[in-house]
Amino acid sequence: MNRPSAKGGAAGADAGKAGEATWDAGLYDRSFGFVSDFATDMVDLLAPKPGERIVDLGCGTGKLTAAIAAHGADVIGIDGDEAMVERARALHPHLAFQHADGRNFAIEGHADAVFSNAALHWMKEDPPGVIACVARALRLGGRFVAEMGAHRNVRIITDALYQALAEEGVPAEAIDFPWYFPRTSRYVGLLEDGGFDVTQLRYFARPTPLDDCPNGLADWIDMFGRNFTEAAPPGRVPAVIDRTVALTRDRLCPDGRWVTDYTRLRFVAIRVADE
Ligand code: BEZ
Repeated sequence: MNRPSAKGGAAGADAGKAGEATWDAGLYDRSFGFVSDFATDMVDLLAPKPGERIVDLGCGTGKLTAAIAAHGADVIGIDGDEAMVERARALHPHLAFQHADGRNFAIEGHADAVFSNAALHWMKEDPPGVIACVARALRLGGRFVAEMGAHRNVRIITDALYQALAEEGVPAEAIDFPWYFPRTSRYVGLLEDGGFDVTQLRYFARPTPLDDCPNGLADWIDMFGRNFTEAAPPGRVPAVIDRTVALTRDRLCPDGRWVTDYTRLRFVAIRVADE
């Protein structure tokens, strides 16, 4: 997937450039396994059938790629981050993985389905380009089954990061917001313009606990919030993180358990003939 220029979240297919390892894939698996754990029902929604050709776009370390393969599908995992692809290959040597950008990946022939979990929001540079690439990879009638961060995703956290940085004299314009969290209407329009009929769509809040992060939100910021912390004045990163934690604690950790404010856009879209 398209992860940030430093470290990022669930694999994004246009995150890193070729040869550039940007994620700590081991830490990602240890502390942020919920990214794929939360998505096992996405594999149910995909309903892979034996022999189907399926692309897992933004596959990260390959956990869901393996879950799809377990249904007998012929699956290829694609990710824009080299470290993620290397770890996926090491963990699942019997599966195929490709290091490629979400806007430019290519497979031989056509797939029956493209699946993507928690990755499309990292591909912020060119969402129509990503959708066009998915459409090119699919046969007519093939399905695009995906879940991504949606409008207002992690807004409490990012508002606090902006405030903490502003208090350090860093204006919002100096921060490269790393994600694409579209409104439902916007993304449906992009899918329809890109040659898809949207047959299912759901926008929902999915509060996400950080139970495997010993330092709670500070670990989340360290993993995913580099575009913010890199904007901090020299030596002020710990202060910015501490302030962000203080600003959010009442809402995200009222009883000692950090639960982040995720929102999701989940959809099934079918590749149709151009009009
Ligand atoms: C998400 O899955 O929604 C997400 C993950 C990391 C950073 C931002 C959003």
